[in-house]
Amino acid sequence: MTKTAVVCGAGGFIGGHIVNRLKNEGYWVRGVDLKENEYGNMQADEFIIGDLCNAAVAEKATAGMHEIYQLAADMGGAGYIFTGDNDAAVMHNSALCNLNVLHGAYLAGAKKIFYSSSACIYPEYNQLDPDNPNCTEDSAYPAAPDSEYGWEKLFSERLYLSYSRNYNMQVRIARFHNIFGPQGTWKGGKEKAPAAMCRKVCEADNNSYIEVWGDGKQTRSFLYIDECIEAVRRLMESDFTGPVNIGSEEMISINDFAKMVIDISGKNISIKNIKGPTGVRGRKSDNKMIKEKLGWQPSMPLRKGMEKTYAWIKEQSSIYQRPAVNV
Ligand code: NAD
Ligand code: GDD
Repeated sequence: MTKTAVVCGAGGFIGGHIVNRLKNEGYWVRGVDLKENEYGNMQADEFIIGDLCNAAVAEKATAGMHEIYQLAADMGGAGYIFTGDNDAAVMHNSALCNLNVLHGAYLAGAKKIFYSSSACIYPEYNQLDPDNPNCTEDSAYPAAPDSEYGWEKLFSERLYLSYSRNYNMQVRIARFHNIFGPQGTWKGGKEKAPAAMCRKVCEADNNSYIEVWGDGKQTRSFLYIDECIEAVRRLMESDFTGPVNIGSEEMISINDFAKMVIDISGKNISIKNIKGPTGVRGRKSDNKMIKEKLGWQPSMPLRKGMEKTYAWIKEQSSIYQRPAVNV
């Protein structure tokens, strides 16, 4: 029997990649999103354009599906989630998507449901030292995320776990740590640091500078999209509920990260640190649990993933900047 899956948020970055991976594995796939997938050549068998804040849309989306992948969320990088301007929209939109999709999956009798949580659930007090952040799964409580985005993710983790306990649903929860790669948002204000750095370097003239938010000493780890998708599929195929980190342990300061992108470009560009939304001081994935439970760890060095991402954004920005021709 052909396996069926619905990917909620298939118009987005990670959702689009999951659709294509499931298609390659022989699934029949339905995608759902507010919008078409912008870049991804997404291969869903059926695509519903709809708002998952509407329970009827979520019921239609989940009907008849064996597996549910819930990635729909109001999501962005530091420039979107740490300014405070989008807090109400993020909490309202994302919480409604989660409530409706999960309940729709329950009504549909779905076998398994995947939920994409975030490293943003971890307490700020464990991420004050840029060289020594603690993001082990069991450090989530006492809870103190530094953004409303993180609080909504934590609420939704609890929501999924309660359906698992009370309704015996097979739930799988991942906490993603800054996923990047081709087909990710690279302009418009929701882009994360990897895409933002690539875009800024692409657009900068030789012998000029790029602006980097904060003092550049804050740290992060970044995971390439293909590795993320592999880990998601392994989690879904396993009998482990999570929540579990899906991320990289290769930590880098943001200034060194910017220098890496400049080096990839081959341009002579300097860095100007400016005030901006910075989020936690240090963060990196802790992969002990995922290694133990799923035997997974990423293998691609950050630089290699960034070379692929830079090449893709360079191509996108040249298309974007190409002058329109009147005919
Ligand atoms: P994305 O913004 O590219 O994709 C999210 C998609 O959800 C978008 O296409 C958006 O249109 C859709 N969506 C939002 N509201 C909707 C609604 N009401 N109805 C239908 N669709 C709606 O983001 P992404 O990077 O692909 O992230 C996917 C998921 O993973 C999100 O839940 C995000 O919070 C989580 N996550 C991502 C990262 C990362 O680094 N990319 C890190 C942690 C967690
Ligand atoms: N976006 C962005 N753009 N960040 C910049 C820039 C820039 O031009 N310059 C410096 N930074 C710094 C930010 O200030 C932040 O300290 C760091 O780079 C990382 O920023 P992001 O990649 O935007 O976000 P994040 O790592 O703080 O959080 C992201 O990852 C979480 C999971 O780990 C977000 O995408 C969250 O939504 C996600 O859940």
